[in-house]
Amino acid sequence: MKIIEDIIEMQRYVTQLRWEGKIIGFVPTMGALHKGHLSLMEHAKNESDHVVVSIFVNPAQFGPKEDYKEYPRDMEGDTEKIAYVGVDTLFTPSVSAIYPEGYRTYIEVKDLSDVMCGRARPGHLRGVATVVLKLFNIVKPHKAFFGQKDFQQTVIIKKMVEDLNSDVDVVVLPTVREEDGLAMSSRNQYLGPEERKSATVLYRSLEEARLLFNKGERSAELLRYTIIKIFKSEPSVLLEYVAIVNPKTLEEVKEAEEGTVIALAARIGKTRLIDNIVL
Ligand code: PAF
Repeated sequence: MKIIEDIIEMQRYVTQLRWEGKIIGFVPTMGALHKGHLSLMEHAKNESDHVVVSIFVNPAQFGPKEDYKEYPRDMEGDTEKIAYVGVDTLFTPSVSAIYPEGYRTYIEVKDLSDVMCGRARPGHLRGVATVVLKLFNIVKPHKAFFGQKDFQQTVIIKKMVEDLNSDVDVVVLPTVREEDGLAMSSRNQYLGPEERKSATVLYRSLEEARLLFNKGERSAELLRYTIIKIFKSEPSVLLEYVAIVNPKTLEEVKEAEEGTVIALAARIGKTRLIDNIVL
């Protein structure tokens, strides 16, 4: 596996690959890789000739009181995992290369960034959109692969690509879960044993809402109430929001229908987790 740190070197390398007619698949990550990331890489391998994975913990998407410093980093372990999957190129730029002194440009996807996670994490989605566009400009992929777990992020990236005419096919793949349903996340590492048990309430409550929907319930208010009730039985987990939304506009719906997304965020101690389902 080739490892590239330098931006210009990465750009030259992919330009050559594209010139040779290779389809470039790209999986951007912040490292601390789990099975969810590896499944994105497997898909990328199946759908492209050359797979690039980036590892970059992006300071622009963390608020001043968030976990940028503590965010798990394991370059050695991650490199081994990526090589094992059979990724072709690993791109690991430095913070000073991505945001050199005097850096001024940010991408704002209006409205879509202000709701849901955007409320609790102002600036987060602006940081995500900015770094993703920068990485697209460096890696020049034909296709980029993201997990459904970060649902709002995927909506914003798709909208940015559409609005800015980026020539990248954004592919969103299903959330990979632990056996008990907890969505895989690098932040699951923060959970103590008791917290880890309680964390299943995110998925349990979503599944209960899905069950009701499948039985014919359409009222968003009732589905939301069901979720809130299940969270009350797990008082160590603080529900931050439940959003029952149109999957493109992120507008709250009154009546759920097939394709409606139920997304939520919750805090367990210092750890903030998110999850969602598509009805
Ligand atoms: O989903 C993530 O890990 C990050 O938000 C991403 C897309 C790599 C941008 O930093």
